[in-house]
Amino acid sequence: MPTILAIESSCDETSAAVCRDGKVLSNFIANQTVHEQYGGVVPELASRAHIQHIVPVADQALKKAGISLDETDAIAFTQSPGLIGSLLVGGQFAKSLALSLNKPLIAVHHMQAHVLANLIDDPKPAFPFLCLTVSGGHTQIVLCESPTRMRVIGETIDDAAGEAFDKSAKLLGLPYPGGPLIDKYAKEGNPDRFHFPEPKIPGLDFSFSGLKTSILYFLQNAGKSLAYKEEVLATPEERDLFVKENLADICASIQARIISILLNKLKQAAAETGIRDLCLAGGVSANSGLRQAFTETGARLGWNTFIPAFQYCTDNAGMIAITAYYKYLEGQTVPLTVSSSARAEW
Ligand code: KG4
Ligand code: ZN
Repeated sequence: MPTILAIESSCDETSAAVCRDGKVLSNFIANQTVHEQYGGVVPELASRAHIQHIVPVADQALKKAGISLDETDAIAFTQSPGLIGSLLVGGQFAKSLALSLNKPLIAVHHMQAHVLANLIDDPKPAFPFLCLTVSGGHTQIVLCESPTRMRVIGETIDDAAGEAFDKSAKLLGLPYPGGPLIDKYAKEGNPDRFHFPEPKIPGLDFSFSGLKTSILYFLQNAGKSLAYKEEVLATPEERDLFVKENLADICASIQARIISILLNKLKQAAAETGIRDLCLAGGVSANSGLRQAFTETGARLGWNTFIPAFQYCTDNAGMIAITAYYKYLEGQTVPLTVSSSARAEW
């Protein structure tokens, strides 16, 4: 019955969770609102906020689980990938606890943990399964053979899906992070009104940068063309009016294209591998259009589909705890000298 305290601090969420025997007992997340005014995460501010939050957040997670530090069997933390300053805060905190309590330390790969968030609640996917992980920094299709054996079989060659949402929203004049706002406006709009192109990328890789460029030209022309044409450039006033009058349809059309790019590659991956258990993961899996299209596609194609509960889609320590649980079972602990890393191999 291993009991694990896990810490996540890879980006701008400070989170701690307790898991006992594969069940997540608590998952406490402190969001950092300081970044909103800058239109994106400011790494130095993120590290400072982690330092302020980490002790109370860990305390809350333990209290909510009804577990004392002495009752833990291991301390886990996100080692990579992420913002290095942010990772170091969680890493140092976890190491200090492991040292002072004389407990083993478990290092977790953040992207592998997003995938294993699908093993937190029932029903769970059967191995091997495919996971489409879509976040602000990553877009990957992962083939997961066991909790400790997985590999990336497709990924973005430029922007991540979350960036595609956020950058599109920025072009529309919406605040950061714009993904949830596009989702909100898209609910009222017609996804077939505007046709943004689908990139032709070989294999299972994704690309979103062409979509961003066509949205930019489309807005510069106030909807007259998807390519750059000097003769139809709109004035800033015409452009603002066009966005204001058509916001819902523009958002619905952008969202529909992002979803079709994602799901077409996932369908291809399922067909090529013959795997029928398919999962979503990452912050963008909060998108209502993606959730619905994923579930409907799965029902049509005979997939078993899985989406983690919302609290386990965005960055959270619950997913670090469940990953650490499986590593603990296989004896995968690390020495206190282990380093955090902004980039990571699989
Ligand atoms: O996984 P995550 O919480 O953080 C990392 O990037 O690791 O993902 C954040 C991303 C942001 O780009 C945000 O705009 C996007 O997820 N996002 C959404 C929605 N909720 C969050 N994108 C579209 N629709 C949503 N409802
Ligand atoms: Zn993440």
